[in-house]
Amino acid sequence: MAARTSPGDCARGAVRFSAVWLCLTAGLFVLGCDLPQSALNPAGVDAARVTELWVWMAAGAALAWTAVVGLLVWAAYGRRSNPMSPSGAIRLVIVGGAVIPTVVLTGLLVYGLAGTREMLEPAPDGGLVVQVTGEEWWWRVRYVLPSGEVIESANEIRLPVGRRVNLELRSADVVHSLWIPALGGKMDMIPGRTTRLSLEPTRAGTWRGACAEFCGMSHAAMGLVAVTMEPDSFRAWLDDRSAPASAPATSASMRGHDVFENHGCGACHTVRGTQAAGRLGPDLTHVGARRTVGDGSLPNDTTGFARWLSGTDRIKPGVRMPHFGMLSRRDLSDLSAYLDALR
Ligand code: CUA
Repeated sequence: MAARTSPGDCARGAVRFSAVWLCLTAGLFVLGCDLPQSALNPAGVDAARVTELWVWMAAGAALAWTAVVGLLVWAAYGRRSNPMSPSGAIRLVIVGGAVIPTVVLTGLLVYGLAGTREMLEPAPDGGLVVQVTGEEWWWRVRYVLPSGEVIESANEIRLPVGRRVNLELRSADVVHSLWIPALGGKMDMIPGRTTRLSLEPTRAGTWRGACAEFCGMSHAAMGLVAVTMEPDSFRAWLDDRSAPASAPATSASMRGHDVFENHGCGACHTVRGTQAAGRLGPDLTHVGARRTVGDGSLPNDTTGFARWLSGTDRIKPGVRMPHFGMLSRRDLSDLSAYLDALR
C-alpha cells in the first residue's frame, strides 16, 4: 500500500522548494546586474525609471513571498496545540488573499502608469531626430539634423549624454522591436506605421541592444550597439560621419575597391563619395569604424569581414545578402582590407 502524504509533508516540500528558488533567483539577479545589456544597470533617465519600478515591484513581490513562506513554515513546523478556528481561517483568506493583493496591485498599477507617462514624454521639436528602421536582420539608422541634413549608418546608435532625443521607429518588413535596456524601455517597429521613443542618456558608455520581437530565422542575431557620448564628442563624431568615405590608400584596399565594384556590391550598398549607391543593404561609408560586422555577429576587423563575406548565410541563416565564398583568397582578403579601411 502506498504511503499517504500528509499536509505537513506537502508544506515541508514547499518550504524546501522555496529555499532552492530563492538561491537560484538571487544568483541570476547578481549575475545580471552589471552587464551592458541590463535593465538594472541604467545609463538613461528612462532606464532609471524602469529600474526604480522594478525595485518597488520586486520589493512588493519579496514581501508577499516572505508572508506566504512564513505561513508555509508555520503550517509545516508550527505547534498544533491551538489550531485556528474556521472563522479565523476565512478571515485570513479574505484579508491575505483578496484585500492585501488588491491594495498592493492597485498601488503598483497607479505608480507604474505614472512612470510610463513620463517615459513617453518626447523631446521638444527642432532637435536631432534618429530614424531607426528594423530590417531582416539589421538596423538602418539615419540621423536627421536640425539643418535637414541626413547621415545614414547602420547597426549602431549613438546618442549625446544629457540631451533628450526623439527616435522614429519603422519596419521595412515584419514586426521588430527596439530595446536598449540600459537606456530605456522597448518599442515595437510595425510595418506601415511610425512609432516613437525618446531616450535621454545620463552617462557615456557602450551598451547592447536587441530586437525584442521574434522576426524570423535570425531574430536572435539582430543585435545592436548603442554608444552614449559627451555632447562635444558626439558633435565631432557626427561631423566625421557626414564626410564621404576615405579613398583607399594601400595597394590591398585599392584592389579591394576594384573587387567591390566588379562584383556589383554597389547595387545593394552605398559608399558615399563613390559610385556605390545601392539602398537595399546597410550604408557602408564608414563601416570600418563600427564596432561589429554582420550586425553584432563578428568583431570589426579584416578577419571579421572575410568570415562574414565568405559565409553570410552560415553566420546569419536566412539573410538576404548572398555569400561570396567563390572569391579567391586574395580577392577576399583585398575586399576585406577595403571595407576595414572605410572609417
Ligand atoms: Cu527583428 Cu526580432
